[in-house]
Amino acid sequence: MTRHMLQLRILIGLGGLFVGLAASAAAARGAGDRVDVIGVRVTDTAGRQHRIGVSEGTPQPAVLVFLDTACPVATRYVPTLNELHARGERNGATLYGILSNPAITWRDGADFAADFDVQFPVILDSSGDLALRLGPRVTSESFLISPANRIVYRGRINDRFADIGRQRPRVTSHDLRNAMDAMTLGARVEPRETEAVGCFHHTWNDLADADAADHAVTYSRQVAPLLAANCTECHRQSGIAPFSFDGYQNARRWSRMIAHVTSERLMPPWRAVHGFGEFRDARSLSAHQIGLLRVWSENGAPLGDPENAMPVSVRPPSKWRLGPPDLVLRMPESFDVRADGDDIYRYFVIPTGLTQDRTVVALDFSPGDPRVVHHANYLLDTQRRARAEDAKDAEPGFAVFGTGGFLDYNAWGVGGWTPGADPWVSGRDRGIWFPNGADLVLEVHYHPNGRATSDRSEIAVYFAEEPVSEYLDGLVVGTQDLTIPPGKDNYWRRFSMSVPAGITLTDVTHG
Ligand code: HEC
Repeated sequence: MTRHMLQLRILIGLGGLFVGLAASAAAARGAGDRVDVIGVRVTDTAGRQHRIGVSEGTPQPAVLVFLDTACPVATRYVPTLNELHARGERNGATLYGILSNPAITWRDGADFAADFDVQFPVILDSSGDLALRLGPRVTSESFLISPANRIVYRGRINDRFADIGRQRPRVTSHDLRNAMDAMTLGARVEPRETEAVGCFHHTWNDLADADAADHAVTYSRQVAPLLAANCTECHRQSGIAPFSFDGYQNARRWSRMIAHVTSERLMPPWRAVHGFGEFRDARSLSAHQIGLLRVWSENGAPLGDPENAMPVSVRPPSKWRLGPPDLVLRMPESFDVRADGDDIYRYFVIPTGLTQDRTVVALDFSPGDPRVVHHANYLLDTQRRARAEDAKDAEPGFAVFGTGGFLDYNAWGVGGWTPGADPWVSGRDRGIWFPNGADLVLEVHYHPNGRATSDRSEIAVYFAEEPVSEYLDGLVVGTQDLTIPPGKDNYWRRFSMSVPAGITLTDVTHG
């Protein structure tokens, strides 16, 4: 690619937004320490997928409480936790119950959630991964984690228990609630630790025990939830990846490849090199999870007890992961992609048909033929110049690659898609301005794949229901007019830009 351009999406206005970069420390578990928990993909006992602490694409404080289905201290706390969960939902924090004891089965967890009328998501930490990330000592111990992955509070939920079997008649110190309130109200919170009372926590951390009954790595117990949370979003029937891992037979057939690509960190796909900071929306497996997949494959990919296999094939009901869109922008015609030859960059003009200005808060993309769509970008053209380009030949769309680029026409980028990308969601109280009468210009990069096909991709658009107070805007820093003198092996050009107001940088795209 010869385009060298930085596109900055900036947020005009003042907002206390996070910056998603932080160093990760190993074995850091005390109050004030950094951990790697926000954004981790998990499956709950109902088979639903969560990214811990991420709500509408935005990291927010998360509370993780290690529980046990039978420990009386842990079960005694369920009503309090239901209350804290509701309070957190109102204030922008999410609470999760974590079952991490290797002897607890999925069925135990589902029964527990039903019997105690648990209102919060119960995560079966069947690979013991969350416990390794946080190191709980007893069940009922709670962890409040900031959106920037710092432990703000760890310890007891409140002072109900003086000791095991010794309940106080009245609670006088609401430690977890106070920490949550302080955090969600934006007060300065000093990291704090208290001693939790509960049943001792059993850990998984010894993979050498893999043969012991409770620790055996099986498809049913650890592998299925791990693949469901991290892989089957792409590796499923008609997904974007080449084969499906749905069900034991499929996972087993690919078990050696699964072990290989995860240990090489080729999958899940995530290009950022480990150890240079933490990124929002990162995809990665922990060393422990990678080790489990390896042990499973080396042991012949055992099924384990199918009765206890978690139901993992919960799928969104429609191809649009955020539900029915307000507007679907579809390529006006199919575009023929030949079997062979060079890559194709093509721009397609899709009139939005908007008769009034709208604020867009979410976008999703559905490739017509996922086998050939390598990536897509969306631009807004308010001057209808793309229509003139399109009219120059009879083929659908037009190509300007290599002639200065379409961005020179004052169109501005509003988003894009690569295989596996989550739908884009603006976050609370923010949006993108879609002016009345604008055209959406879809740039698609096609990779011919050996078989002629045609593509007609679609974009789902979701509008704000309420007015927003901050708008996202895109800025381009750089140029498409770059001529590198022959023979030069270290060529630099620097670009900069002064912005007219205090802004928050929300993301950077390098093209
Ligand atoms: C974001 C989508 C996505 C996710 C999530 C994902 N994959 Fe993939 N995977 C792909 C795509 C796309 C390919 C095809 C790559 C290619 O053809 O170059 C692929 C290829 C593979 C291959 C074949 C290797 C090859 O290069 O041919 C294996 C094995 C695999 N993935 C395993 C996994 C496992 C295990 C996970 C979860 C830990 C996972 N993938 C998660 C998209 C994904």
